[in-house]
Amino acid sequence: MIPAMALHSRHLMSVIMTVSPVTVLPMRLDYFLAHSAGLTRKEAKQLISRGAVTVEGEARPKANLQLRDGQGVWLHGEPVQLPGHRYLMLHKPAGVVCSTDDPEHRTVLDLLPVELRQDLHPAGRLDRDTTGLVLLTTDGQWSHRLTSPNHQCDKRYRVSCADPVSDADLQALCDGILLRGEDAPTLPARAERVDTHQLLLTIHEGRYHQVKRMLAARGNKVVALHREQIGEIALDVALAPGEFRALSEEEIHSL
Ligand code: URA
Repeated sequence: MIPAMALHSRHLMSVIMTVSPVTVLPMRLDYFLAHSAGLTRKEAKQLISRGAVTVEGEARPKANLQLRDGQGVWLHGEPVQLPGHRYLMLHKPAGVVCSTDDPEHRTVLDLLPVELRQDLHPAGRLDRDTTGLVLLTTDGQWSHRLTSPNHQCDKRYRVSCADPVSDADLQALCDGILLRGEDAPTLPARAERVDTHQLLLTIHEGRYHQVKRMLAARGNKVVALHREQIGEIALDVALAPGEFRALSEEEIHSL
């Protein structure tokens, strides 16, 4: 875990940028060097043939060497890496909006250091008053997998209600509820009572204000909503509201 807010931002950037997609390697050395060092293939080949490039485990690397995952590469003695995507989890506080730009309210990006913000977007949204787990990434394919109706993964919410939640309410939430103005009931969900007024609700879809509308359909009102988990990724309990950290490789590949 990275105690993100405490880290010097340059160090933080280097930690967060080390994540590159697993699908990239094996890759030819000249291609890798061109992409990671901003060179043309010709320039990369010249540097390799002049011996300016060192590759872990290779005495005299050639331009057509197929790099394996995790194999270190150095140019003039400096490590080089492909620019990787960024994947973060954020503990969203209330009052912050899940968008990249808003004329009125603070956005989730405003909670991050400036140098991390470029090309970053939230993968899925929470309402302004909802707290908890928000995932942010520069990887559009990854966030599409997370949010597209065909791939949607489970999202677990801690729901606090104005009125007690009955057994019949729990059963109805699990079976599926017809929301106001919609034709099809919600998909089967999981609901577990925490106490008289609080439940854990796991849903598979992401309809507009879905949890609040599900409770409203039972004549109840959500007074606090907190997202605890998306798929296998749980909100890190060490993160205070407003704090963030990089996702681990395992978390990134769990979705
Ligand atoms: N359902 C809601 O009603 N609001 C959220 O923010 C998330 C799910």
